[in-house]
Amino acid sequence: MAVLSFNEYMKTTIVTIDGWSSCGKSTLARQLAARLGFVYIDSGAMYRAITLYFIRNHIDWTNEEAVENALPNINMRFEHNAVSGQSEIYLNDENVEYVIRDLVVAEKVSEVATIASVRKYAVRQQQKMGVRHNTVMDGRDIGTTVFPDAALKIFMTADILVRIERRFKELYAKNPNITIEEVAANLEMRDYIDSHREVSPLRMADDAVLLDNTSMTISEQLDFALKLVKERIPAETTGL
Ligand code: DC
Repeated sequence: MAVLSFNEYMKTTIVTIDGWSSCGKSTLARQLAARLGFVYIDSGAMYRAITLYFIRNHIDWTNEEAVENALPNINMRFEHNAVSGQSEIYLNDENVEYVIRDLVVAEKVSEVATIASVRKYAVRQQQKMGVRHNTVMDGRDIGTTVFPDAALKIFMTADILVRIERRFKELYAKNPNITIEEVAANLEMRDYIDSHREVSPLRMADDAVLLDNTSMTISEQLDFALKLVKERIPAETTGL
C-alpha cells in the first residue's frame, strides 16, 4: 500500500503565496483569505517572532545548542483583531505584530531563517495550523516545503526598484529617520540570503503560477488570484 504524504492526509484546502520580500504577498494573501473565508497565516511573522525572542533573550543563534534549547520556549499563535480586522501574531502571549516589523528584527531575520532547526520548528507549526482550517499562507517555502501539494500556488515577483519604494514608504510612515539606502541594502541582503541558503531556499515551485505585480494594482492582483481559485478549487470550498 502506498504511503500517504502529509498533504494527502489533510482534509483542508491550502493556497500558498511565496515570493521575494516586499512584493505585496501579505496584502494579497490577507485579501484573498478574507474573500474565501480562509484563515490567513503570515509565515514570515513567525520567523520574525523567533528572531525577536533570540534578540531579547540574548540567544547566540550561531550556537546550535543554544538554539535547540531556546526553541521549546517559543510559543506562537495568531489571533484575529476585531478592531484592525487583521490576524496578529502573539509570542508567548504578547502581541508582537508591530514590534517584529522593526528594522532591528528585519536586519537579523534572514540569518535566523537559515538555521535548519529553526526552519524545522517553524515548518512543523505551519503544517499544524494548515491542518485545522482552510488556509492562505504566505512566505518563501510554503509551496515547495510546507505544503507541496497545495491546491493553488502563486509565486510573486516585482521590479526591485518598485519593491524598495514600497518598503520605504511603509517603514518611513513609522520612522521618518529611515533612509532609502538603508531600506535598499536590507532588501538586497534579504533577497540574497533567502535565495542562497542551504535549507529550503526561495524558489518558485514547478507547479506555481507566476504573478509579476510591478505595474498591477492591488485589485488587479486579487482578480488574478480569484480567477485561479475558481479554476482550481471547487466552488463549495470557496463560495465563489
Ligand atoms: O515575509 P517577511 O519579510 O516578513 O519574512 C521575513 C524573513 O523570514 C525573510 O527574510 C525570510 C524569512 N522567511 C522564510 O525564510 N521562510 C518563510 N516561509 C517566510 C519568511
